[in-house]
Amino acid sequence: MKPKICVIGSSNIDQFSYVDDIPGDGETVFGNSYETGFGGKGANQAIMAGLLGAETIMITCLGSDIFAESTIENYKANGVNVDFVQRVDGSSGVAPIWVDSTGQNRIIVIPGANNLIDSDKAITSIEQIDDLSVLVGQCEIPMEVNQAVFEYARSQDITTIFNPAPAQKLEKDFLEHVDWLIPNENEFEVISGLEINDENLIEFKNQITCELIVTLGEKGAALISNDAVAYFEAPKVDAIDTTGAGDAFIGAFAFGLASSKSVDESIKIAIEKASLSVTKKGTQSSYIN
Ligand code: RIB
Repeated sequence: MKPKICVIGSSNIDQFSYVDDIPGDGETVFGNSYETGFGGKGANQAIMAGLLGAETIMITCLGSDIFAESTIENYKANGVNVDFVQRVDGSSGVAPIWVDSTGQNRIIVIPGANNLIDSDKAITSIEQIDDLSVLVGQCEIPMEVNQAVFEYARSQDITTIFNPAPAQKLEKDFLEHVDWLIPNENEFEVISGLEINDENLIEFKNQITCELIVTLGEKGAALISNDAVAYFEAPKVDAIDTTGAGDAFIGAFAFGLASSKSVDESIKIAIEKASLSVTKKGTQSSYIN
């Protein structure tokens, strides 16, 4: 039987501008190319988990625009279950993204329908999914919805993974419903209020009840226990576009856990998939080998 993963979160249409140098205040520059693609942190994580072989169910909220239909088609084309996709009147989420010649990005998310996802409907959806192993969430939908859904999932013994992106402070009450917290370096500093170093990673780990992994970009990832930090290195690659690499990590890690792989093995698969994704342009388009 395939491992079953549900992702609750955002769907966006990504609008990429590739440029040598990101313009400064008041500056106009010529870009090199423009592309659109399917994105949203939740959507990207679901697509990656599905590509690796999980049965993946997406709970997201789309608008009444042309983007909504194409997003549904994209989920279907990638084998992601859309039975529980919610719809509202108005715009779907969009994300203008600037990527410079080093592959680094700047992203603005305009959530649209993502902000209107309904928590009662989401919980009813999860109730209908038999044998769900893992639930994944992020911060691109309202935190009240994550709070209600994670609390319900935890009460059903579903393993929960939370990727606190974009970075924001999290309530202690919410973290009690999380099994795995996976921020990047910047998100770690926002959540913990601490600079990133071994001592502070361990200090924060001792303040929370869940497991903690911090992703470190080209340096790989760190698994933090109550008295040590274990580092996992990433392979050296030529980065063209780092957009969505963090989401590739989360989706692949969720797949590993849901497939009963060890934590170390799940982290290694996640790093491999995230590293590979930065060698290609786009978000979901960079996951397809
Ligand atoms: O993590 C990358 C994603 O962030 C993009 O796909 C964009 O839509 C934003 O959600």
